[in-house]
Amino acid sequence: MQPNGCRLDALPQGCKPIQRVCSYVPQHVEKLTFGVSRRVQRLEQARFATRQASTQLQHLLRDAPSTTPAAIDLNAVATATRPALQRLAGDRVTIQLDLGRDLGFVRADFAELGIALFNLGHDAIEASPDGSSVRVRTRNCTLTATCATTTRALPAGDYVVLEVRDAGRGMAPDVQARMFDPFFSTKRHGGHGLGLATVARVVTECRGGIRVHSTLGEGTTIEVLLPRLAE
Ligand SMILES: Nc1ncnc2c1ncn2[C@@H]1O[C@H](COP(=O)(O)OP(=O)(O)OP(=O)(O)O)[C@@H](O)[C@H]1O
Ligand SMILES: [Mg+2]
Repeated sequence: MQPNGCRLDALPQGCKPIQRVCSYVPQHVEKLTFGVSRRVQRLEQARFATRQASTQLQHLLRDAPSTTPAAIDLNAVATATRPALQRLAGDRVTIQLDLGRDLGFVRADFAELGIALFNLGHDAIEASPDGSSVRVRTRNCTLTATCATTTRALPAGDYVVLEVRDAGRGMAPDVQARMFDPFFSTKRHGGHGLGLATVARVVTECRGGIRVHSTLGEGTTIEVLLPRLAE
């Protein structure tokens, strides 16, 4: 029996196509709505994870050792930010830390560096395929000559590097050219285009620079170089 009390099998021969369409539609509407509701569920899970991660990040920042520029250990920033990133990534992506030994100090605001790392990690997680890892690495480095970076030229000298690497979708050259522009985003849902503009601001205020290596389909490495304080 169909809606309005009309029996489809009682329709005349010429109406068979209508009969077929009528029996096809409910099944497929059901499949479609099932697919949509699963997507809505996933979006809600993602929104929940983001909210939890941001609450955790706010706690981290509130408890941060300093809110004014001071001698900061980037290993401490990476260690403090990792739980919020892992919460955001869920069990889809693993956040790995590779912390350099005898790492020098940098002059920066602990909370702002935490936010910068969170923004870099957030993008890396979003770009990453299921089951992959995002690696956060720190190390000392020395530039023997002036080095051009994406954000500014850095003079020769000693630096500490904070690197975020993913094996995600990578960026085409036109995206790389605009990635630090405020309000530039390729994300159709929820991207404000402010994450990397914030990172660039924080790094520039510390007199640092940012290097980007990205290949479409292979992944992205973003290196933040900050001047190392003399011991
Ligand atoms: N690791 C990455 N892999 C691939 N694309 C990236 C990566 N990081 C940044 N991008 C690209 O750079 C664009 C700008 O990044 P940005 O963080 O400024 O904004 P957003 O992530 O789109 O939005 P928001 O950070 O404000 O939520 C992104 O939309 C994306 O296209
Ligand atoms: Mg972002």
